[in-house]
Amino acid sequence: MAWRNSVRCIGRLHWKSLDVVDCRSLEKTDDIYEALLAHLKAATNAGAIRPSMTLFKHWENADNEIRVWNHQLIRYAGYGDGTGKPLGDPMNREFTEVARSLGWQPPVQPTPFDILPLVIQSGDDLKLYELPESAVMEVPVRHPRLPWFEGLQLRWYALPAISDMIFATGSEVYPCAPFNGWYMGTEIGARNLGDRQRYNQLPVIAEKMGMDTTKADNLWKDHALVALNEAILWSFEQEGVRIVDHHTASSEFMRFCKNEETSGRTPSADWSWIVPPVSGSATPVFHRSYQMEPEFPNYLLQQAPWKTQRGLRLLNENAK
Ligand code: ARG
Repeated sequence: MAWRNSVRCIGRLHWKSLDVVDCRSLEKTDDIYEALLAHLKAATNAGAIRPSMTLFKHWENADNEIRVWNHQLIRYAGYGDGTGKPLGDPMNREFTEVARSLGWQPPVQPTPFDILPLVIQSGDDLKLYELPESAVMEVPVRHPRLPWFEGLQLRWYALPAISDMIFATGSEVYPCAPFNGWYMGTEIGARNLGDRQRYNQLPVIAEKMGMDTTKADNLWKDHALVALNEAILWSFEQEGVRIVDHHTASSEFMRFCKNEETSGRTPSADWSWIVPPVSGSATPVFHRSYQMEPEFPNYLLQQAPWKTQRGLRLLNENAK
């Protein structure tokens, strides 16, 4: 139901298929780590992604709070201070610094796609855990018709597992309840690899396509976006990793809305998140509006743990 009520999610047609693993009895960071590895394995399912959530203890007081400090279970490190040439995912720069201060050492030769470690907190215990390669499935990005694309050496991981949101039932809150679905192609092809403030690959791709990137009206950005999104969908399909294109996801979302109404509910949705970042008006979700009536159960945002007083203290105590 929390998934069903998530106003930003276009994938909600599948809400009934969520696997929930009950780990509410776990307290030791080592045990939580094992449960997270089990989540990655079962949810990745060799590419046949299964929507899953692992539920840890509900919040009682600050002393026994459980949190995973990562934004997602799998993410790439971001290096640089923002002034020089960036390496990796700029979105994860702050977290990368946190991990380093806790003793994480990046590879001797850092790459744009270094998997970050897990930072797990249980009460006053704060521990760093490296993810084994076997826990992380990744897809090298190639294009069905442009052979040079492979040479860009782009890749992305298979499993989007959000780990920093609160699962709230309406009477209890669970600050640690990582969950995942499968990717919609545009999340990677338009935003993660395309955004200027992320991997910023549109100029690189447009130049390879032989386009003039000094002017706007030849639509080089649009051409690059389409090529990159084709490459993402095709590469995931080639590797047998479940992914959905934005047209299919949009018509599935329309079906979800219809189902909700048939069941006597009015779906809430945030238009600005539901409409895909490319070809918006070519999808049906663009051509209507939605109510915004937040409902429990739901997933809520929470402050980054390293910005809370307690988190800052734990960082200090555990600094390497
Ligand atoms: N947009 C985020 C990312 O690109 C993932 C958000 C959740 N996405 C999903 N398909 N369940 O990493």
